[in-house]
Amino acid sequence: MAIREFFHATKVVSGAGSVSMTGEEAVRLGAKKALIITDSFLASSPICGKVTGSLKEAGIPYIIYDKVRPNPRTTDCDETCELAKAEQVDLLIGLGGGSSMDQAKTTAALVTNGGKCVEWDYVEIPHKMLPTICIPTTAGTGSEVTFCAVITDEEKKYKMTVMDLYNLRPDVAIADPELLLSLPPSLTASTGVDALTHAIEAYTCKVSQPITDALALHAISLIGKYLVTAVENGGDLEARTGMLNASLMAGAAFINSNVGAVHAISETIGAWYDTPHGVANSIFLPYIMEYNIPACPDRFARIAVQLGIDPAGKTTEELAYAAVEYVKELNRKVKIPRLKELEYIKEENFDAIAQRSAENPLSDDNAREIGKEGYLEALQKAYRA
Ligand SMILES: NC(=O)c1ccc[n+]([C@@H]2O[C@H](COP(=O)([O-])OP(=O)(O)OC[C@H]3O[C@@H](n4cnc5c(N)ncnc54)[C@H](O)[C@@H]3O)[C@@H](O)[C@H]2O)c1
Ligand SMILES: [Fe+2]
Repeated sequence: MAIREFFHATKVVSGAGSVSMTGEEAVRLGAKKALIITDSFLASSPICGKVTGSLKEAGIPYIIYDKVRPNPRTTDCDETCELAKAEQVDLLIGLGGGSSMDQAKTTAALVTNGGKCVEWDYVEIPHKMLPTICIPTTAGTGSEVTFCAVITDEEKKYKMTVMDLYNLRPDVAIADPELLLSLPPSLTASTGVDALTHAIEAYTCKVSQPITDALALHAISLIGKYLVTAVENGGDLEARTGMLNASLMAGAAFINSNVGAVHAISETIGAWYDTPHGVANSIFLPYIMEYNIPACPDRFARIAVQLGIDPAGKTTEELAYAAVEYVKELNRKVKIPRLKELEYIKEENFDAIAQRSAENPLSDDNAREIGKEGYLEALQKAYRA
């Protein structure tokens, strides 16, 4: 095996009620004033109240920015950087899904490194970001433990990646499943399949390694066990806990391995049409899996077993294809929209979508070599589904 590196430097505080530790963690990080980055829904919900309550108890002053939008823009991050500097905050708290956490991480890096957000696409970040606590309220992106943030450059219609192994990692992740009890079924479903996509791509892509394999495989089994329950019965704390742990592990896996073609195509669609990240991934996951099987059938067979498929009497190939059928059925069960239902994505644009996805560097580590033709095949199959 080639030489690989594995990084994990975020303290994870987890379990029901762990959000009450926010204040204590802020004190430990030496904070004098915090900026909470979240969206308007969460800001006015009891979820944000739990965070602010804990900060108050610890005597940490805070301000709230509540304008995060799904697929945050570079200009949004510039705005929160200016706010953080003007208010002289020394702690960022990203509260929400990947969008809030990514905007908080990027803001924390912009404050200490300067410049505009657009200047930081895949550029080494020289100075450590401001201390940051991430508090996920979806079980999907794993952004609370990843060293990257995905931000949309609206001018270029492109999802850029702010990334650094040393200087863009959250100091603390607080993974409290009680914060997910209010997440509606459609968001639980699409973010949950995003986590599954992270785990499957981390496990099958060219740069996987034993440590990321272990995390990804366990994440897959947790998602197989709990995603449907979390969607159908959002108040099931055990299922929410399982999904939150799975998304965190899948995040730690893919950030040290990689994601592949599913993310390449969903980044294109997210940037061009503002499609939610989880929805775009869910739609293409089964078709890219199918395309990738010839590169590593044994790995896809193992994925099937982790998902709970009985291997008895099945060949490796049959098991591998059973994993694809499982994901198609899962998408139906949790009501992921079909590509045709996203009427704003027209068939005449498939060629351009395929071309742009093939140019995405994520294509390079995909399990099987993939170019424009491979993406077109996935688009056509998803469209006919
Ligand atoms: N940095 C990373 O490692 C990484 C990995 C994957 C994806 N991403 C990025 O993350 C973003 C997507 O994040 P996401 O899928 O978590 O969704 P999101 O953060 O965009 O949130 C989607 C919606 O969910 C709502 N919501 C969140 N928590 C809720 C709760 N508990 N109850 C009710 N509503 C709730 C929000 O208000 C929002 O409207 C994309 O921009 C994507 O590119 C980042
Ligand atoms: Fe993702």
